[in-house]
Amino acid sequence: MGEAQSRKRALRQVDALTRHAATTAGLIPLAGGLPSEQQFPRRALADAFLRVVSQSGTPALQYGWPEGMQSLRERIASRLKARGLVNLEAADVLITNGAQQAITMAIELLTKPGQSIAVDAQSYPSALELFRSKGLTLVPMERAREASAVYVMPTVANPGGATMTAEARGRLGGIRRPIIEDEAYAELAFAGPPERPIAVDARERVFLVGTFSKTLCPGLRVGWLIVPPRWRQRSLRLKQATDLQSNSLAQAVTDEFLARDDFDRRLEILRRFYRQRARQLAAAIRRHLPSWRFDFPAGGFGLWVETDARVDEVAFLEAAVKEGVGFDPGMLFESWPHEGPTCLRLCFSLGRAIDFDEGARRLARAWRHLGGRRPPARPRPACPAPANRRRSGASAGFARRRR
Ligand SMILES: Cc1ncc(COP(=O)(O)O)c(C=O)c1O
Repeated sequence: MGEAQSRKRALRQVDALTRHAATTAGLIPLAGGLPSEQQFPRRALADAFLRVVSQSGTPALQYGWPEGMQSLRERIASRLKARGLVNLEAADVLITNGAQQAITMAIELLTKPGQSIAVDAQSYPSALELFRSKGLTLVPMERAREASAVYVMPTVANPGGATMTAEARGRLGGIRRPIIEDEAYAELAFAGPPERPIAVDARERVFLVGTFSKTLCPGLRVGWLIVPPRWRQRSLRLKQATDLQSNSLAQAVTDEFLARDDFDRRLEILRRFYRQRARQLAAAIRRHLPSWRFDFPAGGFGLWVETDARVDEVAFLEAAVKEGVGFDPGMLFESWPHEGPTCLRLCFSLGRAIDFDEGARRLARAWRHLGGRRPPARPRPACPAPANRRRSGASAGFARRRR
């Protein structure tokens, strides 16, 4: 079987195991990148829903414009203005069905099949799958200058939650190529309000992607895309041709919720909550799997972990699910095959912190069962975070040293 075919087969097996895991009672979920259900403001959202469906004129139940609801666009624009995009107007904000649609639109606008896109060695799986499905070749960042576009998460990357250094941001801003800047996790940087987007210094080339999926709830599917001004009309036509507009009801509920909520306060609470969970999971992994390495994340929902051996990832996931714990195999995030030790993402966002210790113990049992095959010696495994990234300095006590 060819490499592409065996990868497809492995992905199907991972999908089946993940679905099975999601419905298995008692399984400890360390997979998925899902926000904590504990943090969904259910009551406030229910109240917002009732208010918007009772409004006279019921815009929440009616068709709207392709660009989205004006007051919601204004709120997003004003938050981005506060982060340095001083000339941004509501007219620059296009409301999308989540960040995923924003990335898809940017790709449709910027690329054609057969072209290439520069990505990190590990990246967000559904973006990588999108790029592959559009016939794009994935190339490393060092080759960004010859690519049709660049896809990056400078502030809180998925997987691993690293944040780019100032020099790396500067270098990226200096590449004269269109950049898709994905800020899905940016507001969940543990250290506080996120850094300025690259879009501040390269507005004419950056397609800025954001979402309420991680900070409010993904079920609403409300995200946004900020295109460079000269792309505005083309992006509106594309949005209209794609799905007419984003869901009116979801936009109205989000807007009504934001009108009454102290969103900055909410973000502070989320940052503290997830940082605490990251510490708890990190401690559990260090206790039960001391030979595994990871850097403490600067934000987000997961740890990117490098094991000490190379194993069949499907077999490992199968063994873990049997033991009663789920994780995200590294192959999902890898932009191209690598031969170093097996990597995986462990999420601290969804499960209960009280279960992390037991989750790590089960993971260790599955790992021992498998008796990981040692990888061939290589000068530098591909798993560790790229050198242009840094992690949370505040939590250095949790970062394992690289071997
Ligand atoms: C980096 C990144 N970008 C985009 C998305 C998609 O977000 P949304 O739910 O808003 O479509 C995700 C979801 O996990 C993500 O991790």
